[in-house]
Amino acid sequence: MSNPFTRWMQRLRGASAAAGERHEKPHVFVKELSPRSRRHLLRHFLALEEKDRLLRFGSKLSDEMVTRYVEGINFERDTVFGVYDRRLRLLGVGHLAFAPKESTRISGATIKPVVAEFGVSVTAAARGLGVGTRLFMRASMRCRNADVDTLYMHCLSSNKVMMHIAKKAGMEIHRDYGEADAYLKIKPANSATVFQEAVEEQVAMLDYIVKANFKALLKWGARVTGIGSDKKDRTPPPPGA
Ligand SMILES: CC(C)(COP(=O)(O)OP(=O)(O)OC[C@H]1O[C@@H](n2cnc3c(N)ncnc32)[C@H](O)[C@@H]1OP(=O)(O)O)[C@@H](O)C(=O)NCCC(=O)NCCS
Repeated sequence: MSNPFTRWMQRLRGASAAAGERHEKPHVFVKELSPRSRRHLLRHFLALEEKDRLLRFGSKLSDEMVTRYVEGINFERDTVFGVYDRRLRLLGVGHLAFAPKESTRISGATIKPVVAEFGVSVTAAARGLGVGTRLFMRASMRCRNADVDTLYMHCLSSNKVMMHIAKKAGMEIHRDYGEADAYLKIKPANSATVFQEAVEEQVAMLDYIVKANFKALLKWGARVTGIGSDKKDRTPPPPGA
């Protein structure tokens, strides 16, 4: 007899198979990252092209500044989400930073004490697969569950892709402070959003463990048999890694 979790996993597998046949976007697992991910984060950000760094950070950051940014991420205050590929490289990263509203340019936008700023980036080769959308949805769910109702993104109005993602998610886009400081209004939490976030994190954690074990198994197999050891990722590691 199958339990509800097994039935749910079967439905998920069935849905992915059907999606594959219909050439739909693959399922994307968004995992919350910890300080141990800094090396992966650095590799992801350093691989972004200059124009993408500009969109992501609002200025053309040098490698050194990107390194300092990654070293300075406060994982206790903020939340960082990531999407891994099967080789445990970060395809996408979303940084949700919480700040007292008085310290922001949109302080009058909410009666809540805190607003959130979201920055997201997806590796060029993985764009258009839904990674950015999933990171955005997950970050907005975290805001809902943290009782934050205002989400700010740098140059939101001029970023057509982000505007598209936000509109698709049904977000209200406000421009009370001009085009450059557009922000999004987040709906309040309910028991379903709290449950959904917990389930999504568990599933993403399972996905990560499976990928990590598979990677370790491949490494072990290559060491024992000598096969595939020459297929190592030869991308140079980022400075400081
Ligand atoms: C913005 C970004 C994160 C999106 O990531 P992504 O994984 O490609 O996003 P998704 O695949 O989830 O969705 C992209 C959507 O935008 C649409 N889109 C692509 N180009 C577009 C354009 N010029 N105008 C409007 N919509 C566009 C796609 O069709 C897709 O919509 P769909 O899901 O309805 O088909 C990615 O492009 C990126 O890293 N850009 C550089 C950094 C950046 O701009 N960050 C945002 C500011 S912090």
